[in-house]
Amino acid sequence: MTSRTCIFHIDECDFEKSINEAAKMIKDGKTVAFPTETVYGLGADALNPAAVKTIFEAKGRPADNPLIVHVASKEQCEELARNIPEKAYTLMDRFWQGPLTLILKRKEIVPDITTGGLDTVALRMPDNEIAIELIRASGKAIAAPSANLSGKPSPTTANHVIDDLFGRIDAVIDGGAVRVGVESTVIDMSSEVPAILRPGMISQDEIEKEIGDIIIGYEDKVHQDIEKVRSPGMKYTHYSPDATVILVEGENETVIVKIREMLDDFKSQGAKVGLLLTDENNETIVGNEQFLLGRKDRPRELACNLFAGLRYLDEKNVDVILTDGSFSHSGVGTAVVNRLRKAAEMIIKI
Ligand code: TXA
Ligand code: MG
Repeated sequence: MTSRTCIFHIDECDFEKSINEAAKMIKDGKTVAFPTETVYGLGADALNPAAVKTIFEAKGRPADNPLIVHVASKEQCEELARNIPEKAYTLMDRFWQGPLTLILKRKEIVPDITTGGLDTVALRMPDNEIAIELIRASGKAIAAPSANLSGKPSPTTANHVIDDLFGRIDAVIDGGAVRVGVESTVIDMSSEVPAILRPGMISQDEIEKEIGDIIIGYEDKVHQDIEKVRSPGMKYTHYSPDATVILVEGENETVIVKIREMLDDFKSQGAKVGLLLTDENNETIVGNEQFLLGRKDRPRELACNLFAGLRYLDEKNVDVILTDGSFSHSGVGTAVVNRLRKAAEMIIKI
């Protein structure tokens, strides 16, 4: 494992030089974190098994979790995938470059380690100049999962990457904060009926407008756990270095009442409580720490700030993060609530 991480600060004067140096590292089988429009990715040559292995090692990622391969052209995609259905081309034409990942049958050239041994490969063309130029200059398809330690929120700034992976990877290209903030929509195009495997900024509706009916192939863990919340100490006394996330979903008023009630309960037990709130609810409740996600009528803002918010509150060493899930769960809100449900140890629907 590497011990020095080179940081490229991208600005207009040294754009080409930095990209070329980073591209050389990719060619040499090294790991380079780079921005995409969604989140930062940790990249390596997708067809070099030894290089891909170092991605798994740096992140502590289980080997059976396949990586997304990033390409800069349709031709590059065709080098890696076979039997590409017409509908997949329709989606590429409409949404690439952009936050949509297509699962397609893979060609043999793609190593097992990249696909977790599956006979499919995940492909996407990111909408970010640094990412595209890195792929072009290296001449490689770049495998890149989100550039966080496995289990942590995805990184939306280079500093998040540095916090998690400094000394574990060869380089980071700092291209500023990302635009989207949640990872790409993943759609399986390798079987008869296309299925969304992960919601993202590109919604089911937008996709169905292009290719007709698709199915939902992921499960959101939703359960009602109000009983346990009445004795929240049970959760709280379990020591954990990272905060316990509790998500409260429902209409604004009832969510606020519930969060306030839990806040008092936790505080009375001496817990340090962080609040992840929509702007509308700023100052209606006051925790020990708080982070504002953005306005409910601007769901893209919520998506953009989500992971930074979770990281911010974790850094403040709060014991519990109470999250306001009262925003609309349609459009990109579907992706936001999906990520929050994943982060949450407890979900309360009221
Ligand atoms: O926006 C994104 O997609 C970011 C940026 C860096 O491009 N990448 C990202 O990668 O989120 P990662 O590894 O964190 O998530 C990839 C997801 C995982 O849930 C993985 O299981 C799934 O895609 N995946 C990859 N290849 C697959 C395959 N062949 N079949 C099914 N799922 C696959
Ligand atoms: Mg990830």
